[in-house]
Amino acid sequence: MQDQATKLRNIARKKEGANKISSAKVLVVTSGKGGVGKSNMSTNLALAIGQYGRKVLLIDFDLGLANIDILFGIYPQYTLKDVLRGQKGLMDVVVEGPGGLLIIPASSGVEDMVNLSNTQKERLIKELGQIKDDIDLVIVDTGSGIYSDTVRMLLAANEVVIVTTPEPTAITDAYSVIKVIARYRKEPRIKLLINMCRNIADAKSTGKKITEASKRFLGVGIQDVWAVPFDYHVERSVRGQKPFVIQYPDAIVSSTIRRIAGSILSGQGRAYADSETGGVDSFFRKLVNV
Ligand SMILES: Nc1ncnc2c1ncn2[C@@H]1O[C@H](COP(=O)(O)OP(=O)(O)OP(=O)(O)O)[C@@H](O)[C@H]1O
Ligand SMILES: [Mg+2]
Repeated sequence: MQDQATKLRNIARKKEGANKISSAKVLVVTSGKGGVGKSNMSTNLALAIGQYGRKVLLIDFDLGLANIDILFGIYPQYTLKDVLRGQKGLMDVVVEGPGGLLIIPASSGVEDMVNLSNTQKERLIKELGQIKDDIDLVIVDTGSGIYSDTVRMLLAANEVVIVTTPEPTAITDAYSVIKVIARYRKEPRIKLLINMCRNIADAKSTGKKITEASKRFLGVGIQDVWAVPFDYHVERSVRGQKPFVIQYPDAIVSSTIRRIAGSILSGQGRAYADSETGGVDSFFRKLVNV
């Protein structure tokens, strides 16, 4: 782990780089059912996007069981809670992971954004504002289910990735999340990630069920549908506390994640082209003010 001075130097160096994208977009990863692979997908996607040379900030916003730190085998000293209390700056909380990935770990303890005082809200926005110019993409891992904080996230995000598995219960719960988003947002940018697919037919039929129901009953078009195979390397990497794109780069699941990362980056061009959704700044403002 690097000290604060090194982190700041790296960030300053990055700032000098050419082709800087002016406003980072925010991708929120969520699901209806728990345990479908959100944390593993967001962590490994963040790393894979980093491998394409982008600066990514990964935020663990699972208010119940924050565990991105566990996937990395890191033991953070401070969390977002310390920032809100005014005891630490964001740079004290941000941990630098492999490949320069920035991680805001384990925010369980920030019980409810609704209950933040105005001072806390302002503090959060100000602190986040410090790093926003240096990152290309923010990925937020949320808890499962439709809880108020997660919903706020979904409504504030530029893009939402809904993770499901081919199980009927997970499919139904994924649809419920889309329904909630559709209720509040006119043209939501929703991507579907079908995880733990045992075969292509399963993946296809799951994708078809969700996209068709969303279109027909909610009038919502799903932008992209991605399938990730069931791969025992995921479980192994969780046990070894080293994300699979690093530990098992040749595994099928890793090449699949790299492909999806590429697809997210190519889609970014579209997202940047329209200003309607705003960037990370507007995300955090919406988050605390919705
Ligand atoms: N593609 C996959 N192949 C095999 N196993 C997987 C795959 N994706 C996830 N898993 C397994 O599922 C478990 C749960 O994954 P993860 O913790 O990422 O889910 P989650 O949606 O974040 O859970 P929670 O709702 O508790 O936050 C992992 O420990 C891993 O063993
Ligand atoms: Mg999780």
